[in-house]
Amino acid sequence: MNLNAVSVIFRAPLKLLFGSAKLSPIGHVSCRNLWNRANKSSFGRYSVVQPGYVTPGREVPPHIIRPVYHNIELSQQEYGKPEIKTREMIDKLRDSCKLAKEILKAVENFVTVGITTDEVDNLVHTLAIENNAYPSPLHYRGFPKSVCTSVNNVACHGIPDDRPLEDGDIVNVDITVFLNGFHGDCSSTFLIGSVDDAGRHLVSAAQKCLEGAIAICRPGEYFCNIDNDYPGKMEEGMTFTVEPVIGQGSQEVVILEDGWTALTVDNSRSAQFEHTILITNDGVEILTA
Ligand code: CO
Repeated sequence: MNLNAVSVIFRAPLKLLFGSAKLSPIGHVSCRNLWNRANKSSFGRYSVVQPGYVTPGREVPPHIIRPVYHNIELSQQEYGKPEIKTREMIDKLRDSCKLAKEILKAVENFVTVGITTDEVDNLVHTLAIENNAYPSPLHYRGFPKSVCTSVNNVACHGIPDDRPLEDGDIVNVDITVFLNGFHGDCSSTFLIGSVDDAGRHLVSAAQKCLEGAIAICRPGEYFCNIDNDYPGKMEEGMTFTVEPVIGQGSQEVVILEDGWTALTVDNSRSAQFEHTILITNDGVEILTA
């Protein structure tokens, strides 16, 4: 989930990844009120996910400091220039990123066959609160839960529900926590049980895309060279997220009437990895590593 001033998101079909230097940016998005289709796929051995039952959002105790989400224009968020952060600001963000990374690690040890994504939401929410952080997705532009969980053909922004994870699933868990006034943000795609070759290849490719994109980040580098249409160059002291979404098939997704869940139109799977990074004087530091 993109809560920072600038995130670099690109979505590309897997077949373009190797042998082509230019990846396509995030694909065409259309909206539909109803989403009915056959529960089958030609992209491997896995279950095509339909959204399940979503429990009410979890309570946040009053002592937790909340982010201010109103009056934010998405267009400004997406295309705003990242601010140059001071040392003090970077240290605060560093703490927030460290917590996000620790929660993601706890999720990695927790997810397995039979665990519901709602249980993942409970874990993430509890760990955030225990560490005096606010789980950033909760109530952000109407998002009802504390974490994004995107399984198989859910490209991104999946809402945790009562569906138990199945043997062969891939699930992206996107953690964002608000601590000391800053959002720390990272995500990984986890393999559940025995995932087919195509799924493991997809997840591995998405991880390589993130690593490759971060490897070129340094002062003076153009944002568009990661693969997106942001103007301008990177400067020392800028922080932003890099979060490639890589798909097996069509780049086209539909957004469900919940306003968030993005499903691929052809039921193909996608995988995503994300880090929050800092541009240093001579390169880059991964704050969520
Ligand atoms: Co994120």
